[in-house]
Amino acid sequence: MNDLDFTGKVVVVTGGGAGIGRAIAEAFAQRGAQLAVAEIDPARCQDVGKALGEAALVTCCDVTRRADVDAFIAEVGERFGGIDVLVNNVGDFLGVIKPFEFYEDEELDKLYQCNLNSIFMVTRAAIPLLRARGPGGSILAISSIEAFRGIPNCVAYSAFKHAITGFVRSLALELGPAGIRVNAIAPETTETDQVRPSELIAEEHQAHTRRWIPLERFGTPADAAGCALFLASGLSAWVTGTSINLDGGALAAAGWYRDPNDLWTNVPVVTGNGFNF
Ligand SMILES: NC(=O)c1ccc[n+]([C@@H]2O[C@H](COP(=O)([O-])OP(=O)(O)OC[C@H]3O[C@@H](n4cnc5c(N)ncnc54)[C@H](O)[C@@H]3O)[C@@H](O)[C@H]2O)c1
Repeated sequence: MNDLDFTGKVVVVTGGGAGIGRAIAEAFAQRGAQLAVAEIDPARCQDVGKALGEAALVTCCDVTRRADVDAFIAEVGERFGGIDVLVNNVGDFLGVIKPFEFYEDEELDKLYQCNLNSIFMVTRAAIPLLRARGPGGSILAISSIEAFRGIPNCVAYSAFKHAITGFVRSLALELGPAGIRVNAIAPETTETDQVRPSELIAEEHQAHTRRWIPLERFGTPADAAGCALFLASGLSAWVTGTSINLDGGALAAAGWYRDPNDLWTNVPVVTGNGFNF
């Protein structure tokens, strides 16, 4: 038997129209799953609908809105009768990069709705459909490596990503007896529309990436899809309440990297901030 065959399984992905969510949706579809995607951007809805084919449910909606979430999950229930895998992928720093003391209430609220409350709302609404399928279900959240270290000027985003760590731990306990596992994937910088290291990092500094990340590159959406397949499959049958650091070893390295002569160092030898600004 193929451990990564998802034939007959129903997989729900939020924000499945682009980036990490899109790669995850396509990876499951390629392995036989029936897909339900919630996506806010109409053009991306159309695009992912074409890629996944007519068997997939693609709903144009905003998972930060309670009414949209309830309607989407109700549609999933009517169409498929249950959920085997829920991937809470939506999350965004929303372009808010500044010292915490200058955050507006409205910015804090939007960051909360996008990065945490959407996960609360979607997961809570979906649990009855996961229970309906019996043991074997899997809930995933796309967190961030920023859930395990600080990030200056993105304090609220980082705080909400840290909260996901606690959410999966506690919910895993509640749902363990039902045979439903709950885990997170915590990516380091991954090339998507939201984060573009290929454009953000000045050309003269691109070469340093190889020496900064132990596995010598930034992430790709396919890296996240690989982790999602593992965490949703029987290969991880005894894994719950945890997060996978999907980071090429960056967190393990902490302040360590290699200098231009490829010697390991934890003292600063690069001048400038390395960005295009
Ligand atoms: N790209 C990175 O470097 C990186 C690093 C760490 C964590 N992450 C996390 O990975 C996840 C995916 O990030 P990405 O880089 O692929 O993002 P992305 O912005 O490239 O893609 C997100 C998708 O979700 C959709 N979306 C956004 N808000 C939505 C909403 N309210 N309702 C429905 N759909 C919505 C967008 O239209 C888009 O298609 C996020 O949780 C993000 O925080 C990304």
